[in-house]
Amino acid sequence: TLKPVITIDGPSASGKGTVAALVAQQLGLHYLDSGALYRLTALYALREGVSWEDEQNVARLAAQLPASFHDDKAWLGEADVSAAIRAEDIGMGASKVAALPAVRAALLTRQRDFLVPPGLVADGRDMGSVVFPRAELKVFLTASAEVRAERRYKQLIAKGESANLVQIQQDISDRDARDAARAVAPLRQEPDAHLLDTSDLTIEQAVGQVLSWFDKAR
Ligand code: C5P
Repeated sequence: TLKPVITIDGPSASGKGTVAALVAQQLGLHYLDSGALYRLTALYALREGVSWEDEQNVARLAAQLPASFHDDKAWLGEADVSAAIRAEDIGMGASKVAALPAVRAALLTRQRDFLVPPGLVADGRDMGSVVFPRAELKVFLTASAEVRAERRYKQLIAKGESANLVQIQQDISDRDARDAARAVAPLRQEPDAHLLDTSDLTIEQAVGQVLSWFDKAR
């Protein structure tokens, strides 16, 4: 096909974003960080004074989200919000707005629009189950809870932010519980997805595994 899709779904802080971006780069494909769209929606709602629980109004904002990705940055209108959308409270807000069916519906076409030649690597929670169910390769990428908390902790410290490992563990498990328990597009491994546990893998090894699966799939 002229537009192959690789989906990489998994829990927060599993490293799926890093792996997905590198796979896209190595294959020369486009990359969709779908979580960023939910984060942008949460940030936009916050800035517009709309509560994260207000389904109708958050969905209205999602439908007209003035978001774009260019120059390696995420933009809300003219503002570079790359750092702002990575904040822990925005991650939590993203998982709240992501539980609202009308918000997910409003973002669906927007995500599918990323699929143009020469193809796409998409990461998130429901890329293989809902957004691109006919993907050539589906990966469910995970790591143990301890490893994920540690990776997030190191990320924050490297950015010069303060971080508390116990708090991070709690945040990650709250977010995963909400993502897995929700009625629409819950986080779970699809029957046709390859399981990739990266707890004991380097980034290079994880990328190599996805590339070799893709080689066999096409
Ligand atoms: O992947 P990331 O941590 O940036 O995603 C933030 C939140 O957005 C997740 O906790 C999840 O609730 C939501 N999300 C989603 N579906 C996706 C991607 C992200 O529900 N495809």
